[in-house]
Amino acid sequence: MRWLAPKILPSIVLSLEEISKHSTKNDCWLIINNKVYDVTNDISTHPGGESTIVPNCGKEATSAFNTKGGQENPHTSSANELLGKDYIGDVGQKIVRNPVTIQSNSTSQREIEDETEDEIEDETDD
Ligand code: HEM
Repeated sequence: MRWLAPKILPSIVLSLEEISKHSTKNDCWLIINNKVYDVTNDISTHPGGESTIVPNCGKEATSAFNTKGGQENPHTSSANELLGKDYIGDVGQKIVRNPVTIQSNSTSQREIEDETEDEIEDETDD
């Protein structure tokens, strides 16, 4: 038998269920305008404090981000620039968790990189 693609890269679907698994300070994904961001690395240096972001981890956070949690003034362009660097993909999109192209220091990312393909399939099934 001939195998054209012997190595399948691990992938996940950015479902609401998947995003909700990343709901802590050390592993924080947010949905803003239907896009998914891994903001874990920006939490400790957030000018508005950690406590404003963390309750939004794993959730739809468009309104929280746009209003800075209820304030009148929106985030500046430099905040949006930072956010852009954290972009993972769109909600519902299937992404390849390739350690070369996706940078993250979050625990979950390291775990995914260390896991075998079979283990990843097990993890996404539940
Ligand atoms: C999702 C929930 C978030 C809330 C509720 C929130 C809230 C706040 C608050 C209250 C401030 C301080 C405003 C002030 O008094 O100057 C602030 C500033 C700031 N935040 Fe956030 N933030 C959130 C997410 C983020 C994210 C994800 C980033 C970047 C990836 C970010 C980047 C910044 C920056 C750079 C500032 C400095 C002022 C500015 O550039 O607008 N924030 N935020």
